Amino acid sequence: MNLLPPLSLYVHIPWCVKKCLYCDFNSHPLRSDVSPEDYVDALINDIEVHRRQIQDRVIQTMFFGGGTPSVFEPVLIGKIINYVRDNFTLSIDAEITLEANPGASDRIKFEGYRKVGVNRLSIGVQTTQDHLLAKLGRVHSGHEAINALSEAKKIFDNINVDLMFALPGQRIDELKRDLSGVLEFVPEHLSIYQLTIEPNTWFYRYPPKLPDDDLASEMQFEIESIVDECGYDQYEVSAFSKPDRQCSHNINYWKFGDYVGIGAGAHSKLSGAEGVTRMVKYKQPKRYMDGVFSGDAILSSQIIGSESLPFEFFMNALRLNSGVSADLFEKRTGLPVNVVDSHLKALEKRGLVTFSNSVIKPTTTGMRFLNEVLQEFL
Ligand SMILES: C[S@@+](CC[C@H](N)C(=O)[O-])C[C@H]1O[C@@H](n2cnc3c(N)ncnc32)[C@H](O)[C@@H]1O
Ligand code: SF4
Repeated sequence: MNLLPPLSLYVHIPWCVKKCLYCDFNSHPLRSDVSPEDYVDALINDIEVHRRQIQDRVIQTMFFGGGTPSVFEPVLIGKIINYVRDNFTLSIDAEITLEANPGASDRIKFEGYRKVGVNRLSIGVQTTQDHLLAKLGRVHSGHEAINALSEAKKIFDNINVDLMFALPGQRIDELKRDLSGVLEFVPEHLSIYQLTIEPNTWFYRYPPKLPDDDLASEMQFEIESIVDECGYDQYEVSAFSKPDRQCSHNINYWKFGDYVGIGAGAHSKLSGAEGVTRMVKYKQPKRYMDGVFSGDAILSSQIIGSESLPFEFFMNALRLNSGVSADLFEKRTGLPVNVVDSHLKALEKRGLVTFSNSVIKPTTTGMRFLNEVLQEFL
């Protein structure tokens, strides 16, 4: 049992006030015929599906993601946390994060989330420029986003801000204003993503004109130097934190830890005697809820073959700037590190990875061309 990796719990809330034009996450416009109370009952039934797999294990972190979890009232979020605390083993100092959107949250709600046990708030600012927010199809203004951050700061001492860059028509001075506007509040953590055009989105169907590669690289460079000057450490491709304020939940993903995902479309990864199993729940909320109550919420479940484990491991671990130890590779995959020796040597030769003192680490170029690095393990 001691050999099992740390365990996290992900809770998916699949509704938003309105769908953003770039978003491919499992999120749907909130409808009045949906009962949040029924969905919470489904979540509670869903975690019971995993009882046998997790009842003897400690849940180290919880993450309410979406969609927009802040469309749910604190009392409902509290019901889920309490259920987990009372019926499973939730670590006493578990990091419990909730994603909140400006335009779907306010100070009263923030106080409520804090009271019911949420101790880390993630605020989706994206950009502070109204005309860019409008182009993205966001429901809030820049002022509302900054106001949400300012209110959150009075209640939470662990805050993440999500920003995006390389937005349609975005200029470098606008990005700098986003950064300075957010950094004024000294959030403990920043997640800064380059906008990607995903299939099944409005932007995929009607592609906007994006900054070219040179401008996008210049933006990336500006971000890295500005946040570095402000005392943030880039510990993952898109994640920056103040010392000791990394996101433990995400680090567990990147270190190939275990997680149970409850909610529509949620993914789980669990290690056991039979190997590593991946599971996905039905994506469509109504189908998922019906499935939970009739004992049929799992869309797919499969054991990952040992030949796929190195790829799966490195797909996560090589996102971390500090790299990972060979020892962790062996613990998480159950394979000796020499099965990837020739691949690591080939990548070292191409200047994409270093492997010394038993630490496997992407180089700066390797980080930039992560997909190419991963091809090596396919
Ligand atoms: C699961 S989303 C939900 C967060 C929350 N609903 C919100 O919109 O603020 C998490 C983050 O992923 C990022 N994201 C979503 N779609 C993206 C895309 N196509 N390209 C880059 N980042 C994206 C956004 O920064 C977003 O805040
Ligand atoms: S980006 Fe966030 S708010 Fe927008 S649709 Fe996706 S999950 Fe919902």
